[in-house]
Amino acid sequence: MLARYSGAVARVRSVFGCTDCGAQQPRWLGRCPDCGAWNTLVEASVGGTGSGGPRRDLLSVDAAPDIPKARPLREIETAGLPRIETGIAELDRVLGGGLVPGSVVLLAGEPGIGKSTLALQLAAGVNTSAPILYVTGEESAEQVRLRADRLPELPGDLLVMAETRVEALADPWREHAPAVVLVDSIQTLHTQQVESAPGSVAQVRESAALLAAVAKRHGTVLVLIGHVTKEGAIAGPRVLEHLVDVVLTLEGERGHAFRLLRANKNRFGSTQEVGVFQMTEAGLEAVENPSEHFLAERRAGVPGSCIVPLVEGTRPMLVEIQSLVVPAGYGMARRTSVGIDDGRLALLLAVLDRRSNVDLLSCDVYLNVAGGVRVSEPGADLGVALALASSRLDLALPADVAACGEIGLGGEIRRIGRMDLRLREAARLGFRRLLLPKGADGQELAGVERIAFREVGEAVEWLRSLA
Ligand code: TYD
Ligand code: MG
Repeated sequence: MLARYSGAVARVRSVFGCTDCGAQQPRWLGRCPDCGAWNTLVEASVGGTGSGGPRRDLLSVDAAPDIPKARPLREIETAGLPRIETGIAELDRVLGGGLVPGSVVLLAGEPGIGKSTLALQLAAGVNTSAPILYVTGEESAEQVRLRADRLPELPGDLLVMAETRVEALADPWREHAPAVVLVDSIQTLHTQQVESAPGSVAQVRESAALLAAVAKRHGTVLVLIGHVTKEGAIAGPRVLEHLVDVVLTLEGERGHAFRLLRANKNRFGSTQEVGVFQMTEAGLEAVENPSEHFLAERRAGVPGSCIVPLVEGTRPMLVEIQSLVVPAGYGMARRTSVGIDDGRLALLLAVLDRRSNVDLLSCDVYLNVAGGVRVSEPGADLGVALALASSRLDLALPADVAACGEIGLGGEIRRIGRMDLRLREAARLGFRRLLLPKGADGQELAGVERIAFREVGEAVEWLRSLA
């Protein structure tokens, strides 16, 4: 029965795929109903030999894979996963101890952030005797060599191949049996199995799926480098996130050296860890002491500045929030923020306006997180509010004060997690007074005064009382 019908369904028909989110629609639309992007639907064929059809094996040498048998849970061994250390301690920690053979890692980030640099450093440091293959679709082999020359360690044995055809990787993969294959970037690859253009969702997904299948079968680590668009979606294929085992993102502000490496997804470890790097003349360097790094250029006693103990994963770091509030000219007041979400700033301005008597709505407001870090946790709210109030009132916070706590729409200051870590880090760097939510946990520390507030209005009154 099945055999008789399968011929009939293999005819080619068209669907329209969104180049942003990968969703497929049966007909063309101006706007993708899944992600809301305009003009992103492009035609793609399915059926026939396209992505809907059976997947031909890229490396046809290895025929039918073993079909695994179902086993009772108690008989499944958990001997711990073998790991290949990358030689970059920060990266190993984020990965959960190193690369797992046969796993697929997506390294995503904005163009120019340092993905290729990190990949080359990984190639130089990785602890394996088997070869490592670096496939570059963006640059020539010479350009790769030029970049590698800047790095502290030259991965001299690294096999470099400038190639964009997925099928062309079969021979070198078979010949060299590499332990790690790095693909820079997945958006430049294309396979003959799909007709659409390189970089399209169908191409990226199919190329990645083909390579992942080979990596799984050979126990090779596959590292796919992927570009992220401004909106933060991994360009085109958010679909890739489902296909890979680990999603790493490298983030940072342009023009700043500071970089954070996070695991957004990790099948073999926690997603809590972050790696902290700095881009130097000789590649990415670990930052052992992020707080000292951020506070190095701080000028105490200037209105508009507040120190906040953040926790990224399990790493506490003190950052300086800076604000400048000036009377607005004609028309709409300007709101500009770097390092903090615009929506969060708008919310805090509205709360401050209603719940404390600081007039901010008629002012231009500029907010900046010093050092190029991006703050995403709400624990910085109190620090932001105090920085804003401090600038507006022209009253500097004392040099030994740090603040943290989330602010709700009612002006209430809410408790946040990992208070002990924050307190200890602030104390370590010499902060003697900590402003925090009432009822916040965390141990009492000798020599550190805890000043607790229930409402943002109380915190602003405390600031006024310093005058
Ligand atoms: P790159 O790794 O090419 O970024 P991506 O692959 O994410 O697009 O790095 C880009 C930037 O890093 C580029 O502006 C040059 C800078 N850089 C350094 O500052 N130091 C270095 O040692 C290297 C290799 C690059
Ligand atoms: Mg690159």
